[in-house]
Amino acid sequence: MTDLSNDAHARGLDDRDPLPTLRGEFHIPMHGDAEQAYFCGNSLGLQPKGARAMVEEVLDKWARDAVEGHFLQPAPWMPYHELVREPLAAVVGAQPSEVVAMNSLTANLHLMLASFYRPTRERPAILMEAGAFPSDRYALESQVRFHGFDPAMDLVEVEPDECDGTFSMAAIERAIAQHGPRLAAVVWPGVQYRSGQAFDLAEIARLGHAAGAIVGFDLAHAVGNLPLHLHDSGADFAVWCHYKYMNSGPGAVAGCFVHERHARTDRPRFAGWWGHDQSSRFRMGPDFVPTSGADGWQLSNPPILGLAPLRASLDQFTRTGMEALRAKSERLTGYLESLIRAHLADVLQIVTPREAERRGAQLSLRVAGGRTQGRALFEYLSGHGILGDWREPDVIRISPAPLYNTHADVLRFARAVEAWRDGR
Ligand SMILES: Cc1ncc(COP(=O)(O)O)c(C=O)c1O
Repeated sequence: MTDLSNDAHARGLDDRDPLPTLRGEFHIPMHGDAEQAYFCGNSLGLQPKGARAMVEEVLDKWARDAVEGHFLQPAPWMPYHELVREPLAAVVGAQPSEVVAMNSLTANLHLMLASFYRPTRERPAILMEAGAFPSDRYALESQVRFHGFDPAMDLVEVEPDECDGTFSMAAIERAIAQHGPRLAAVVWPGVQYRSGQAFDLAEIARLGHAAGAIVGFDLAHAVGNLPLHLHDSGADFAVWCHYKYMNSGPGAVAGCFVHERHARTDRPRFAGWWGHDQSSRFRMGPDFVPTSGADGWQLSNPPILGLAPLRASLDQFTRTGMEALRAKSERLTGYLESLIRAHLADVLQIVTPREAERRGAQLSLRVAGGRTQGRALFEYLSGHGILGDWREPDVIRISPAPLYNTHADVLRFARAVEAWRDGR
């Protein structure tokens, strides 16, 4: 199983895998004459070959039909975002009316906080993880300030309590219990970007709600990576991007979930015409009447060219299904883990939790010898067509994406690390 020299074994695992790879449906970047072993799907997923046709369809329609493209078949632009609604709801485990593709992740986080973070003098605080992705922290800190509160007091950052910088559920529970009476909101990641740790979202939502707080999730690293059950989790809102595991291109249009119990909310919101009740939107009246569901948080008419690749990507997720994809992901990441533990433990320490239910595709690997050795290994790998990504000061993140990565890719990575170690 873990023999580093046995190509045939890795190929056999690929050939016999219950979910045949969709690698042939992707553009795989080249390294010289060979394909890269690309492990950066947690940063920018590869391009599905079908994306080009979707974009060209829009360009052709624009050339041919101009303004009438809003109404003419196929795929008129006026209801274009509805084309992605159902497949997207399936990916995140939501009802179709609970999801909408719009804006970017950070913009959606602000829009959600504008509605759901309603601090009072008694309950001003937001609870988040320490070491969060900077944009999340900037957003939450600026929201606290915007409402006239002091982040030093009212942005509560839970410190990781496990030795590799991960969080036990007990630590999250303790923090919510300790700050509960002052909490207006809990905002937590589905998968932590640095460590790759996955969280029990339903349990976090339960704890947050029991404390009287609103609960929202940042699913940037979870969507398309783990099966999600957003509706059943009870979360109030969630936001995510589509350029990582969802393979919809750089800066792709993002996603947003609003639980159906808020469908007709009278909570304040930042409004725009695309969130207005559709039946009367074009009467162009002065008063905003929100359409129900997540659609009611849209501001502008959507960037159709930006949405087009998402259709190609979602088609792949619909054909494979999140459960089958996750099962394959566990096999690939489990294989990566077993090779590292058997052969490379003196070079790479796995920071990501060991239990499959506490991680997604990504393993975060701390390189022995610190930054200098870490950079040397990272550059050696890049020079051999093996692309992970680097997180200061000493971590390489490797994310086998089950739609296009193979056991052979994983073996290639492990062999290259071995060759670097033995050649030092
Ligand atoms: C966890 C997390 N939050 C927020 C962002 C920022 O996303 P955007 O630039 O799409 O707003 C990212 C981007 O990678 C991320 O990984």
